[in-house]
Amino acid sequence: MLGIEIGNLTTKILTGEKKNKFFGKRLMIKTPSNVITDGKIVDMNSLVEAITEVIKKNSIKERQVCFTISSSYNILRDLELPPMKEEEIEKALYYEIEQYIPVAENYVIDHRYLPPFGEKDKKIRVLIASSPKEIIEKYVKLSEMLKLKLEAIDVYSNSLYKAYKKVGLAEGIVAIIDIGAAATNVTVIDNGNYVFSRRIEFGGNKITQIIANALNMNFQSAEEYKKTKKIIGEERHKDIEETIFLSFSEVLQQLSRIFDFYYATYHKSIQKIVLIGGGSKLLGLKEYIENYFKIPAFMPPVEDYLYFLPAYGCLLRGE
Ligand SMILES: Nc1ncnc2c1ncn2[C@@H]1O[C@H](COP(=O)(O)OP(=O)(O)OP(=O)(O)O)[C@@H](O)[C@H]1O
Ligand SMILES: [Mg+2]
Repeated sequence: MLGIEIGNLTTKILTGEKKNKFFGKRLMIKTPSNVITDGKIVDMNSLVEAITEVIKKNSIKERQVCFTISSSYNILRDLELPPMKEEEIEKALYYEIEQYIPVAENYVIDHRYLPPFGEKDKKIRVLIASSPKEIIEKYVKLSEMLKLKLEAIDVYSNSLYKAYKKVGLAEGIVAIIDIGAAATNVTVIDNGNYVFSRRIEFGGNKITQIIANALNMNFQSAEEYKKTKKIIGEERHKDIEETIFLSFSEVLQQLSRIFDFYYATYHKSIQKIVLIGGGSKLLGLKEYIENYFKIPAFMPPVEDYLYFLPAYGCLLRGE
């Protein structure tokens, strides 16, 4: 089985191996420019071409595929229902869904039951994942054009939290912050239980653009510069650093609000930040985040975890 996540900059493809506790072959290719915006595939042909090429080149034999999608249009919520008969659950669920999905027929809605928080807890916990049909249909079409059998489409945070649990990192109350090229996703997990997630429209592209403007370079050169030269903490780049942090402060403020909301609702604090996604590799950023929140931040020691957890998670069923 193949697990695929199409990011704005990089597409992550991996093969799942049953015997393997972790995942098998891992491939990362550059996503062709402008094929995807906020999770919506806008240029099918370029995408098909790129993925077909990598599958061929690497002699991948898998014929089944799962996708994980990050989009601000996705909804993932866990609900608590009072104890009730099974036949009443559907109805209650439908009512709940209508509260936050205004036009339900435009969405694909999926739900599964979650284990109760405590042994004495009789409440029924349900996780609802939903994505606009418009987005899903494009992925169905993509699978057809790739001549792969579509097994599942999952929403990003659901995939991420399953994978995170599976690789044994789930202890404590953790905020996983995935800084990508176009977006930053934050997913809060309480001892392996999904709590909530948000997508913030900020990513490494903005940082590259700041460098390009400041040093009068084109985007590609600035991208290279960002990855190879130290900027944060360098006296000669003080101005760039300031502009980066000013721009990043939007993200930090939004994260602060998310953490405050979590505290207000559950009376619990985030104990650990885990940084994934290419954007978190910016030298000095981890320390800056740690210092801002006064919460320890970690980058997974295994590079694969930095990139492949969401693609891995969409291969995991019922876990
Ligand atoms: N060494 C590095 N230092 C700083 N930034 C880096 C480094 N390596 C990669 N990046 C940045 O990480 C970003 C890409 O990360 P990633 O591959 O996780 O994005 P993506 O998943 O394709 O994007 P999105 O999640 O927004 O769809 C780019 O902005 C890139 O410049
Ligand atoms: Mg990403």
